[in-house]
Amino acid sequence: MNETKDLMSKTVVNSWNDFDSLRHVIVGRADFTCIPPTEPATEAKIPEDSDMRGLWGPRPLHTVEAANRQLDTLTQALEAKGIRVDRPTPIQWNQAVTTPDFMTGTMFGCMPPRDVLLTVGKEILSAPMSFRCRYWEYLAYHDLMQRYFDEDPEFRWEQAPRPRLTPDAYQVGYFDEITLEERLRRTAALDFVTTEHEPLFDAADVLRIGKDLFCQHGLTTNRRGMEWLKRHYPDHRVHAVNFPGDPYPIHIDATFVPLRPGLVMNNPKRPLPAEQRKIFEANDWEIIDAAQPANDKPPPLCYSSVWLSMNVLVVNHQTVIVEASEVHQMDQLDKLQFEVIPMPFRDAYPFGGGLHCATADVFREGKCEDYFPKQVPGTQI
Ligand code: GLY
Repeated sequence: MNETKDLMSKTVVNSWNDFDSLRHVIVGRADFTCIPPTEPATEAKIPEDSDMRGLWGPRPLHTVEAANRQLDTLTQALEAKGIRVDRPTPIQWNQAVTTPDFMTGTMFGCMPPRDVLLTVGKEILSAPMSFRCRYWEYLAYHDLMQRYFDEDPEFRWEQAPRPRLTPDAYQVGYFDEITLEERLRRTAALDFVTTEHEPLFDAADVLRIGKDLFCQHGLTTNRRGMEWLKRHYPDHRVHAVNFPGDPYPIHIDATFVPLRPGLVMNNPKRPLPAEQRKIFEANDWEIIDAAQPANDKPPPLCYSSVWLSMNVLVVNHQTVIVEASEVHQMDQLDKLQFEVIPMPFRDAYPFGGGLHCATADVFREGKCEDYFPKQVPGTQI
């Protein structure tokens, strides 16, 4: 009890995975979120038939308010479980981003802290993101990082090298007249809009399972980004994974989601290739297909697919928060002996994702465990 009280008053940064007991988390805010104007990286992510094509600027106020209501409800539910919740400080995202190398019309937002903040142990790192509109996003978390720095003498406040995001960072014409089949072919061939010009990754492409970091190679993370992570975390093992069934491979958390030690849920439309499964099999991890989404389309003006159904927030080895309309996902987790907490969240989806995307870990109990002592040759980068 005393320990809990201490945790609520004084920050301790520590998180090595997505399933140990959650004690302190950041939940995003939707204020001022914009649909950014076209740029090379966003263009590749937005489906050809998306209702977002051709639109840009601040999102309608009533949608911002609806998203914030659901983010506040999530916050209250976490706090009711004794989990400390911090919130970012939104800035006016409807401002141009201008650097010596590029200009773009607006920023994005701070609903999905998971995309930019990577917590590994006692460190929180701001990622070198490939969307120009997200260049300053880390500033929304600056006050929190300052506070953690002052309160936890062991907290490591880090920033990956800021990318320049010149035209060299992107393939010219990548998305011209691209069909769904062609997108799938390119995912399988590891041919993405981002080039290898400089290290790029989104934090949400990095799956943390103790000593092993599994990085999705896709539209937002390149090999150089993984190489940087490998040198930055010399005590970890970094593995590249990719999911050829995903035509828009961005962020691993609607594709490959660990639920507890030894159990991971895989999107059945985006199976992990056989070669890459070997390390899980060798260490007796079970990979199960996630349940089918209950919704046949995402809400309006949404970047993400219906597979946000599996973008769950694991609170501890027995408890998981799931979007309230996702009855099949809830049923599957119930059968796996989880206590399932339903949480209405579809109004927040268009702002950058589901329950996992909307959060970033500060403290989970537990240490850096080695869950994969049997390594498979050729899987580490
Ligand atoms: N990568 C997020 C989604 O499946 O939409």
